[in-house]
Amino acid sequence: MASIRELLFTGLFLLISVQWTVSISEEELHASYWNNKARQTLHTALNVQRNLKRAKNVILFLGDGMGLPTVTAARILKGQLAGKSGEETSLVMDTFPHLGLSKTYNVDQQMPDSAGTATAYLCGVKANYGTLGVTAATRRNDCSATYGNEVESVLSRAKKAGKSVGIVTTTRVQHASPAANYAHTANRDWYCDSDLTPEAIQNGCQDIAYQLVNNTEINVILGGGRRYMFSRTTKDPEYPTETGNRNDGQNLVEGWLKNKKAKYVWNKVDFDAVKPSNTDFLMGLFEPKDCRYELERDPSMDPSLTEMTEKAIKILSKNPKGFYLFVEDEGRIDHAHHGGTAKKALYEAVEFDRAIGRAAELTSELDTLTVVTADHSHVFAFGGHSARGNSVLGVSRSKANDNKHFTTAVYGNGPGYRNGTRPDMNETMSSDNNYLQQAPVPLDSETHGIEDVAIFAKGPMAHLFHGVHEQNYIAHVTAYAACLEPYENCELPDHAGSIHPSLLLLLMGLLFLSLCNV
Ligand SMILES: *[C@@H]1O[C@H](CO)[C@@H](O)[C@H](O)[C@H]1NC(C)=O
Ligand SMILES: *[C@@H]1O[C@H](CO)[C@@H](O)[C@H](O)[C@H]1NC(C)=O
Ligand SMILES: *[C@@H]1O[C@H](CO)[C@@H](O)[C@H](O)[C@H]1NC(C)=O
Ligand SMILES: [Zn+2]
Repeated sequence: MASIRELLFTGLFLLISVQWTVSISEEELHASYWNNKARQTLHTALNVQRNLKRAKNVILFLGDGMGLPTVTAARILKGQLAGKSGEETSLVMDTFPHLGLSKTYNVDQQMPDSAGTATAYLCGVKANYGTLGVTAATRRNDCSATYGNEVESVLSRAKKAGKSVGIVTTTRVQHASPAANYAHTANRDWYCDSDLTPEAIQNGCQDIAYQLVNNTEINVILGGGRRYMFSRTTKDPEYPTETGNRNDGQNLVEGWLKNKKAKYVWNKVDFDAVKPSNTDFLMGLFEPKDCRYELERDPSMDPSLTEMTEKAIKILSKNPKGFYLFVEDEGRIDHAHHGGTAKKALYEAVEFDRAIGRAAELTSELDTLTVVTADHSHVFAFGGHSARGNSVLGVSRSKANDNKHFTTAVYGNGPGYRNGTRPDMNETMSSDNNYLQQAPVPLDSETHGIEDVAIFAKGPMAHLFHGVHEQNYIAHVTAYAACLEPYENCELPDHAGSIHPSLLLLLMGLLFLSLCNV
């Protein structure tokens, strides 16, 4: 019985396939096309040289919640936005020569969060769910247990070694992922002093915004998060009905601006006016909390992730000792997935890839280690019977057992749950910006996934990503490649791009001697 059904089904499938070949390009019908393409890839692979030099610069791109189904769907979307069928497209990150997988669990949780994972990939030590910049000896919410258990980020170590450092994000800059670069806290939600518990206040724990300006001195800080920097009596410049959220009356931005060649901006016009050549410190906070989704961003008010990344690199790269830059795409991929809105998440991921491309144009693979990874995945799934070139937000061509269409993008749980019978689907409905993909389990917020995420890498020592790794290994590779603590004795030679001053002296000496001999 089952096999007859299967046969019929396969027949139907083939029939439809034939009709759909219209969208397939003619060259793909020939063996030579695939053989040549693979031969080129083989040639490239055979010629990959290990870069055994020291990384002058490190850029870590973090796609918050960017699991592999998100990467694949974003790739297809990128191609489809360019008018192609999409599957054959390459993201910029797809072109990186070295690849590994990252095991993302927290010390106390199988399903991890952005705080525990950020502590792993930024500080090199796995931590508990919800905690930042501390070992797992600190339980969430236990302020008193932070003391003596702090772990230092690679960004801080880079600053100590004389590099310029920066964080760029489309979330609030005090959000879990960027915050693990500079803060030590038992609770990722302690954004400002009004969020602290009585226990935290009693034991002297500082909020994350305070730590942003009081711990490691960061050269470039770009993202959202104004409300945590200003007092309740300070009106927001963009939304005058809103105020800051601090109880202690402090203006953290004013304090940060003191004693440096520093600028603070909160809108696109002022941001555009910032000249990297005469700016060593830049803080740009474009929203009271998180920045808007890329799909909803007002380009006249807020810069894109790509624009922020570009400005950051131009300021940081003035330092002859190099820089360390953290770029979070978008905690907004994560937020859009939690909201059950795949379209927003995928547009964020495409913008993230654009920022990676811009950074690649502004830096050299010879001296810059670039790592692209995610902190964790989501229960976003992408499948069903879809023809080549099917819209990533479209529907399966076959109907489900309830005789209704279904979208190829779905969630395992979340707000897309419908009580009662499932509605029939069509692409007009499912390509709406706010469409919630269907989910079988009702939850207000869709959850993170548990499976591994990818690590893409290029540049000095990128080949150290080569297999299935614990997530905290990432911080060890970025520290090692740049010869930062605890690997300051790594003895990696300087990158090829520049000549070491002592070598230059030696060369000049030799030249002088040879001239004298003549
Ligand atoms: C914390 O930073 C603010 C702003 O830079 C500054 O005014 C304040 O003195 C700092 N506090 C401490 C204890 O360093
Ligand atoms: C689904 O609907 C039924 C009947 O109206 C109701 O009793 C139940 O609480 C609903 N469940 C959820 C998860 O909304
Ligand atoms: C899609 O479904 C909606 C809701 O049932 C309907 O109003 C609309 O006409 C449909 N569009 C197409 C193109 O079938
Ligand atoms: Zn999340």
